[in-house]
Amino acid sequence: MSSGHENRPAIPRHIAVIMDGNGRWAYRQHLPRVAGHRRGAEVVREMVQSCVDLGIPFLTLFAFSTENWRRPALEVRLLMNLFRLLLRREVRKLQENGVRLRIIGDRGALDRDIRQLIEEAETLTRANNRLQLNLAVNYGGRWDITQAARAAMAAVQAGEFAPEDLSEAHIARHLALADIPEPDLLIRTGGEERISNFLIWQLAYTEFYFTDTLWPDVDRAVLEHALHSFAHRQRRFGRTGDQVLEADCSVSD
Ligand code: IPE
Ligand code: IPE
Ligand code: MG
Repeated sequence: MSSGHENRPAIPRHIAVIMDGNGRWAYRQHLPRVAGHRRGAEVVREMVQSCVDLGIPFLTLFAFSTENWRRPALEVRLLMNLFRLLLRREVRKLQENGVRLRIIGDRGALDRDIRQLIEEAETLTRANNRLQLNLAVNYGGRWDITQAARAAMAAVQAGEFAPEDLSEAHIARHLALADIPEPDLLIRTGGEERISNFLIWQLAYTEFYFTDTLWPDVDRAVLEHALHSFAHRQRRFGRTGDQVLEADCSVSD
């Protein structure tokens, strides 16, 4: 059931996903962890297609966290190679599908050729508006807030405003994804129920959906379950349930 009202829209505009469980999927098949990441990359392709089909305009996927550098060097290298492959092979398909690709995260630590591929892909797909796909690579919520604070401090130093006038808006405007709506729905696969330093500021009022399904096993049905769950929630943003119902009624009047 869906109301389509501002407080309870049928379909989220922005879905964020913590794609977890690739390693466990691989262990279960007696395969190396990278096989899980490879299968995971295929699921990314399917997920993008589903969002295009459903008319969801923004999708943000957590691919590599600032903490994932702690993994064995070989796994990190294989993950980066997979990312390279995706940037080389998939971008044309994204372009044909009207998908705009953006990478969020600290690029400084990525290999130079990867940074180059990112810039090319972002430039090529810049004008597309069917779906904006944000891939979080070397991304951390704390990094994001810190770099936004740094930008706000620079503005103070430039005399744009006084330190005591610092507001939430001064930070928010420098965050990754500042120019798009905050996520309506966060999906985490793989059974863990934590944020793992994903979009901590932007998820302040996001609805969470956790599933035990491992990312490489995710299919359209999992997405539909999450959307069904989302459609039945009342988003109150601090108000009472009655206030929200009243606002809904006045919208439909
Ligand atoms: C998520 O799967 C992918 C990345 C973090 C890159 P994992 O690799 O974390 O899979 P599990 O949690 O070990 O099963
Ligand atoms: C979160 O998964 C990061 C990504 C999906 C890229 P992790 O598997 O790294 O998270 P933790 O370490 O279990 O919290
Ligand atoms: Mg994991």
